[in-house]
Amino acid sequence: METKARGAARSDGAEICVFLDDQAEPLATYRPPALFHLDTTSMEDGEHVLILRATDAIGSVGIRRIPFTVANGPGITVTGLRAGSRVRGAIDININAFSSDEPFDPVRAESSGPIPVWTWVMIVLIAGWAAWYGIEYFATPAAFAATPTYATNPAALVGAEPVTTQAAAAPRAVAGKSAAGFDYSKLGPQVFAQDCAACHGASGAGVPGAFPALAGDPVVNGPADAQVRIVLGGLSGKTISGVRYAGAMPPFAARLSDAEIAAVIDHERSSWGNHGPLVTPNQVKRDR
Ligand code: HEC
Repeated sequence: METKARGAARSDGAEICVFLDDQAEPLATYRPPALFHLDTTSMEDGEHVLILRATDAIGSVGIRRIPFTVANGPGITVTGLRAGSRVRGAIDININAFSSDEPFDPVRAESSGPIPVWTWVMIVLIAGWAAWYGIEYFATPAAFAATPTYATNPAALVGAEPVTTQAAAAPRAVAGKSAAGFDYSKLGPQVFAQDCAACHGASGAGVPGAFPALAGDPVVNGPADAQVRIVLGGLSGKTISGVRYAGAMPPFAARLSDAEIAAVIDHERSSWGNHGPLVTPNQVKRDR
């Protein structure tokens, strides 16, 4: 009750004058509260200030200044010259104007300008990534390049094989006989190229993690019977030099003759730095 009475007493004597800019005469004078209607269409575009001056019953005065900007005219956009920028020589400045009843903000929309630097950076990054991806996608790792899956021309892979092995075998033409006089020098490289090189590699180096190397392999350099049994019956699940191979070595008993098996084994045992005891077709026959 008391608050109300006091408020009423105050507003009874209070008065608000509304001034525009620095005009000496108020636009209007009200007893608060009041609704003031400001028509900006008759005002010039630009900075203005509304000043509210309130006087209460005992004569003390409160003042409130509200600066504002009127923009009834067309919006103007400028690209090529920024406020406060330093320029020299001749420059091109793009200017445009938009009527004030455009539905969108004319400052940002529809004003032409140069492509921003960050857009160029994004384009370069995306193009670079795409190039890198393409190279990675089509580049075959060296370790797989010699396998039938990745070789661009598997026929050439097999066809190329005798060239390298024969070159390597040539000096062994005389040495390429086992103690029992079995000549593996022709048949050995041939069988190897056809039946073994796809997995173990043209030079017996294998494929790291997928197929064991035969060069320097303990079985190839150890007692012959162990290798004969592996080639006849296949092999799987064995850990070789600390690596466990997921793939299996297929059996060749049904596919190759005694002579072919002896020849390929002897070829492996005398190639790529290997020095394993050699076998004869008779030994293979016994182990079958
Ligand atoms: C389909 C692929 C493939 C082909 C073809 C293949 N191998 Fe193998 N070979 C393997 C795999 C895989 C292993 C290892 C198996 C394991 O670790 O259990 C292996 C193991 C061997 C081993 C044993 C090595 C060791 O240290 O125990 C010898 C010897 C061998 N292969 C010789 C040959 C010969 C000779 C031929 C051709 C007549 C041949 N391989 C053809 C996949 C193949």
